[in-house]
Amino acid sequence: MDFYIVNGSPRKKYNTAQILEKASGGIFDELRKNYDEEDINIHQIHLYDLDFKGCKSCFHCKRIGGKYYAKCPIKDDLLELLPKIQNADGIIFGSPIYFGELSGELRSFFERFLFSALVYGGESNAPKRMPIGMIYSMNLTEEGCEQFYANKFDVLENTIEILYSKPYSLKVYDTFQFSDYSKYENYAFDPELKAKRRKEHFPIDLEDAYNLGVKIAQESLKI
Ligand SMILES: Cc1cc2nc3c(=O)[nH]c(=O)nc-3n(C[C@H](O)[C@H](O)[C@H](O)COP(=O)(O)O)c2cc1C
Repeated sequence: MDFYIVNGSPRKKYNTAQILEKASGGIFDELRKNYDEEDINIHQIHLYDLDFKGCKSCFHCKRIGGKYYAKCPIKDDLLELLPKIQNADGIIFGSPIYFGELSGELRSFFERFLFSALVYGGESNAPKRMPIGMIYSMNLTEEGCEQFYANKFDVLENTIEILYSKPYSLKVYDTFQFSDYSKYENYAFDPELKAKRRKEHFPIDLEDAYNLGVKIAQESLKI
């Protein structure tokens, strides 16, 4: 079994990474009930370690009878990785929210991952259907997210649904952004409230992420 955990945050040990690590643990523990440890491969991908750009609109992936039909031909660090991820048993993506969007790296990744599988007006060209998890981490509170980002991720999630499967989605709100708020200029957030949220709510976020991982593993066994 091959699963991919794709970190769209530049930080390898902070909110998104910690949440993804828990989700990965959920996948592993659930699969372990049915599989030997050596048969469970959970690959961790840090997008900011890779050298790649977004879709270049070359349309080789749509060229009828072409060498790269349904594939992305761009020769960079995604060339070999994309087919592996597209053939996985499940994927969990995580991203910080930057100006109301996914991080730039994850957006660029999705342009390539999704467009090569998309057929205008036709069935998905993805090699297989698989369970997918989407985890978004952000500064905003749940109320703020509802106010400013209502339906914000629908286009992306609907596209993932058409091409792969309806994603399981988890939003982690009001994250702890700096290790020491006294060192950074900030007039928006109360450091004490941030610390309280971190202590009291982040463990719940981690548990939710773990359960999302369990769900992804369970769904992968049904396909
Ligand atoms: C460039 C930048 C832009 C950001 N924009 C937003 C935003 O629009 N909305 C939001 O809620 N948080 C925003 N944040 C906060 C991060 O999304 C949030 O702290 C996230 O949990 C960080 O994840 P990380 O710890 O994995 O880096 C921004 C952070 C940075 C660095």
